[in-house]
Amino acid sequence: LRLFSGSANLQLSQEIARYLGMDLGPMLRKRFADGELYIQIQESIRGCDVYLIQPTCQPVNDHLMELLIMIDACRRASARQITAVMPYYGYARADRKTAGRESITAKLVANLITQAGADRILAMDLHSAQIQGYFDIPFDHVYGSPVLINYLASKQLSDLVVVSPDVGGVARARAFAKKLNDAPLAIVDKRRQAHNVAEVMNVIGDVAGKTAVLVDDMIDTGGTISEAARILRQQGARQVYACATHAVFSPPAIERLSSGVFEEVIVTNTIPVPESDRFEQLTLLSVANVLGETI
Ligand code: R5P
Repeated sequence: LRLFSGSANLQLSQEIARYLGMDLGPMLRKRFADGELYIQIQESIRGCDVYLIQPTCQPVNDHLMELLIMIDACRRASARQITAVMPYYGYARADRKTAGRESITAKLVANLITQAGADRILAMDLHSAQIQGYFDIPFDHVYGSPVLINYLASKQLSDLVVVSPDVGGVARARAFAKKLNDAPLAIVDKRRQAHNVAEVMNVIGDVAGKTAVLVDDMIDTGGTISEAARILRQQGARQVYACATHAVFSPPAIERLSSGVFEEVIVTNTIPVPESDRFEQLTLLSVANVLGETI
């Protein structure tokens, strides 16, 4: 078994390697003058089971291309089996056509990864579970929720209500609520007018006087979750926690999340959060053990 890391989240890769008691394999990665990427695996991997760790987070196109080149290099080096370990699967939100003449980029990415030569995928908290079906190779879909739930449970919050910030996330929030002593569930009915612009309309369920825990798969610009928090406060929630696996954190997420509306923002390290983006209310949990154990 050999582990290699792309450049997207070296720290997580190192943690996974430490969990497995292994070193990351040597890989040369350089750029040509025109920006093209060069990758060379610097040891023999002939006949090996190779795991390539690369969340396709920002800059998404670069990290995706890097993953494809890594897969291709391993295939051409006669690896026996190549697993693409994608703690975060970028382009997942375009998983179906919602208007005419659009691309389904989640499927396009699946085609590219398969075509490059991956034999198996290991991904965490896909935006929608059906993306597994876009691949015709084995797919392990794992969850960051045990890590998030353990942390929340350790806080022993009282009068808890788990809230989905949109209708699409109800199943996820319900699973959280079940694990948190069967806490009640509430749903924010969100209407979106444009990409990355969230508009919150209504809360279904009772949140007055309660500690609300908003659960989402990702926080991108922070619009969805901060609008949800605003309406929960309006409806009388005593405290609002935000909880998500993927800290995409595109601007102006940091300003929105650190504005004081949240008691705490709890995310995992599937995507690196630079020191400069860390704010007082942020809690960063590691999913290295979950991924390491699955590998
Ligand atoms: C939407 O379906 C997703 O689950 C997230 O709620 C959304 O992508 C978060 O984006 P933003 O933070 O930009 O509102």
